[in-house]
Amino acid sequence: MKIIICEDERELDIKAAEEFANHIRRKPDSVLGLATGSTPIGMYKQLVDMHKNEGLDFSRVITFNLDEYVGIPHDHPCSYHAYMDENLFNHVNISRENINIPNGLAESLEEECTNYEEKIKSVGGIDIQVLGIGRNAHIGFNEPGTPFHSITSVVELTPSTREANSRFFDSIDEVPTHAISMGIKTIMQAKKIILLAKGADKADAMYKALYGPITPDVPASVLQLHPNVTVFVDKEAAAKFPTKE
Ligand code: F6R
Repeated sequence: MKIIICEDERELDIKAAEEFANHIRRKPDSVLGLATGSTPIGMYKQLVDMHKNEGLDFSRVITFNLDEYVGIPHDHPCSYHAYMDENLFNHVNISRENINIPNGLAESLEEECTNYEEKIKSVGGIDIQVLGIGRNAHIGFNEPGTPFHSITSVVELTPSTREANSRFFDSIDEVPTHAISMGIKTIMQAKKIILLAKGADKADAMYKALYGPITPDVPASVLQLHPNVTVFVDKEAAAKFPTKE
């Protein structure tokens, strides 16, 4: 595992975007695994700038998002469909048919999950997956206790995750109770993973994820078992890491 501690958010955004962009340049038809939330917004902004200023080409990439809420329309401002349009897709030359986000409005959510998992396999798997981390160390919406062999499924959000995400909604009652999320096994099958973490409220989760026991109680700790992970973390989120003598 490679750990890159950045001075501030801006440095993190630039370095993470550079890693992602290099991947796209080397393999223009890369399969990208994407995350939402506050953390990757700056990285997406950098990628949009690279597209506009340096011609970074998204025309052949295929994307799969980690997750989507169940039961809110795609044009709801808090849906992850809307988030991705606003922060990335509307600003780069991606082909709409190459975008995949779980459909939380599907008639059969179970079928939607099976098809999503199959579709990832059918394009040869995810080349590079970006992850944020929850304060409880969730990855995707895989909350503590999720088995490491889980695949894409409907998951129930914990009260702490609903509370954390209520900042985007008018009130906590509006935050959906369920989501579709790639499973931990799905995430671990990505060929490369980049984990981003910013801010003091992630310090505890990051310490446990990287230096604690590998356990489903700390979902992100599974990443210690992945052969190709790069972590981009700011000083605040790295505050509990052991210091080198
Ligand atoms: C988002 C996702 C979540 C977030 C995590 C951190 O697609 O799957 O695991 O990465 O909740 O969210 P932020 O970045 O808002 O702190």
